[in-house]
Amino acid sequence: MLIKKPSDIKTSEITPENVYKSRREFMLDGSKLMLGTMAGASLPATVLAQNGGALKARAPASMQRAAPAPWWAEKFSSIKPAPNSEPFFTGETLTPYRDVTHYNNFYEYGMDKGDPSANSNPSQPDPWSVAITGEVARPGTYNLEDILKPVDLEERIYRMRCVEAWSMVIPWIGFPLADLIKQFEPTSNARFIEFETLVDPDTMPGVTSRFAMVNWPYREGLRMDEAMNPLAFMAVGLYGNYLPSQNGAPMRLIVPWKYGFKGIKSIVRINFRETQPNTTWNDLQANEYGFYANVNPAVHHPRWRQDMERRLPQTLFSRQHIETQLFNGYGEQVAHLYNGMDLARNF
Ligand code: MTE
Repeated sequence: MLIKKPSDIKTSEITPENVYKSRREFMLDGSKLMLGTMAGASLPATVLAQNGGALKARAPASMQRAAPAPWWAEKFSSIKPAPNSEPFFTGETLTPYRDVTHYNNFYEYGMDKGDPSANSNPSQPDPWSVAITGEVARPGTYNLEDILKPVDLEERIYRMRCVEAWSMVIPWIGFPLADLIKQFEPTSNARFIEFETLVDPDTMPGVTSRFAMVNWPYREGLRMDEAMNPLAFMAVGLYGNYLPSQNGAPMRLIVPWKYGFKGIKSIVRINFRETQPNTTWNDLQANEYGFYANVNPAVHHPRWRQDMERRLPQTLFSRQHIETQLFNGYGEQVAHLYNGMDLARNF
């Protein structure tokens, strides 16, 4: 596994944690202003929008979408901060921006951890279209702008646990997956939801590589009740800024109680269906990667131990080994989804 050396990373690409933290305090202040306004205080809501707008000025430009459209910037001008309590927030130390954006799995851009940041193109198609198909009252091809128009962006600070036994703590920006699903009015036959990633051989060297074993596009899926759980999240940003391409711009899935491979990136199709969809890793190696992929320290994996994890970044002096928790610590919110199921068989 190859990790980009710190010396390879331009300082302009990094949002330092102290900048992020002061932004976060700022966003918290902003939300207090908003509450004050709602409570009838004299500050107009536009103060928040103007101040919030200043946040984007600090985006690490070289890693973001080249020229975000005005609607997109406007959407980012009012982000609701994460509450200071579980489960939408964790007080654990945030993984530095550099690690979140330079230690990635995105096989469309190559198989090494440094490949996605080196190979992915920051200027992606705009408008970005998402096909909504299957068991819904409102199928069609929608621009991302239309999908995002009715939703409110918020911050969520989640643990992310990869099946490879590393983990991170990431401040995402996005909105509940349930808010997207409701827009398209699924029929009563919709028992599963399936997602697909863009395939573009011109900009994604991984999809034409002879080493790639994946049958593209990358596919993932959830049961409908899992998808409607309030923890399931569509991310369009992180660390207060737009989502970098290597992290799945412009929109990716986050399911914090499942292994990271469920978090499909750069989504172009969402299909509602009656039967369980095929998923990329399950198709490749069903005995290693289940459809459910719930984080479970008791279910053995042939290549990585699952009862422990390495919380990144590791240093020479601190290996940061911690115990892995069932459902990645989100059991209170999701254990009921699996009542009566044998989690060792349905892994
Ligand atoms: N989505 C696509 N389209 N292609 C991928 O290779 N890798 C998955 C997931 N989503 C992957 C993907 C895996 S294995 C993990 S662990 C997470 O993305 C990593 O997300 P990150 O790179 O933002 O940390």
